Amino acid sequence: MEKIKVVLGKRSYPISIGSGIIQEDNIFFPLKPGNQAMLITNKTLANLFKDKVLFHLRKSGIKVDQVILSDGEQFKTLNELEVIISSLLEKRHSRDTTLIALGGGVIGDLTGFAAAIYQRGVKFIQIPTTLLSQVDASVGGKTGVNHVLGKNMIGSFWQPSSVVIDIDFLKKLPYNELISGIAEVIKYAIIFDEKFFNWLEENIENLLLLNDTLMPYCIKKCCELKAKIISLDERENNFRALLNFGHTYGHAIEAHSGYGNWLHGEAISVGMVMASRTSEMMGFLKKADYERILSLLKKTGLPIKGPKNMSAASYLPYMMRDKKVISGEIRLVLPISIGKAKIYSGIDKNIILNSIKYFQ
Ligand code: GLY
Repeated sequence: MEKIKVVLGKRSYPISIGSGIIQEDNIFFPLKPGNQAMLITNKTLANLFKDKVLFHLRKSGIKVDQVILSDGEQFKTLNELEVIISSLLEKRHSRDTTLIALGGGVIGDLTGFAAAIYQRGVKFIQIPTTLLSQVDASVGGKTGVNHVLGKNMIGSFWQPSSVVIDIDFLKKLPYNELISGIAEVIKYAIIFDEKFFNWLEENIENLLLLNDTLMPYCIKKCCELKAKIISLDERENNFRALLNFGHTYGHAIEAHSGYGNWLHGEAISVGMVMASRTSEMMGFLKKADYERILSLLKKTGLPIKGPKNMSAASYLPYMMRDKKVISGEIRLVLPISIGKAKIYSGIDKNIILNSIKYFQ
């Protein structure tokens, strides 16, 4: 088992990564025998993994209840949040309870937000089951729900007490969800790490076959990069915003298409090519680097074109609602080379529109 630490003073926490680790003793840190906990998952995952996780929690002496939600991004709403809170109250969970998120980004964000607000804040543990949540969403304490007008518009920063990444969960992941996670993996490489990008170019085919040496290395690499960023800038005052590469365009696609119709990573893949094109048109990113980005994304089978029924102009109102907007200016994360990105504001709207049109 590999361990990484997110260093945040008293709120520091471990990320454990390995195969079959949910069965290990003391893995559900900080839970101890006799503690109360609430497992939160969705119907699909309940069928696949819930019993195994419940068995190991109960074997460790944890008194655990459960909430099972519907599956999908369209259920990341205030309504589901209320279902969780009502269940906690009905089952008399006190302030020393621990919520356990068993699922992907939706379950993790919902559970984390419920933990942030239940009785003004309780502990929570992330057990991410998708590649996307293992490499990104489960680490860093961004929690929240969507609003019809924008993704993740209601939420808070609330760090988990531990993250348990069992790579075995990926064996049950549908291919489109696997590559959706790969989009976030490629994101890290483009913005932070040229060597990792080269590694991905060499290994992408075997990685997608869930090679049992390559995949753990890849997840660990992404978690290390993310842990470092969170330790430097927990509240996204500067560096952390770089993790939003591709997300300004991508969130527009998700909101416009109706949540759940595009997987997050699919929308981010299109967002990354649009942002790379913007950067190339601005003269920041070399054509050769832009083409390498495009080619790596294409190799995975991720989409590189936006929805056919979405005009370039219709991206802008959504992009204006992005959380990075300051004083009415869209701020975009643009790669300036492979392994390096910067935040730019004041980019000519025509260049943004042209880069969107190019991938329509
Ligand atoms: N997923 C972007 C972040 O955690 O900041």
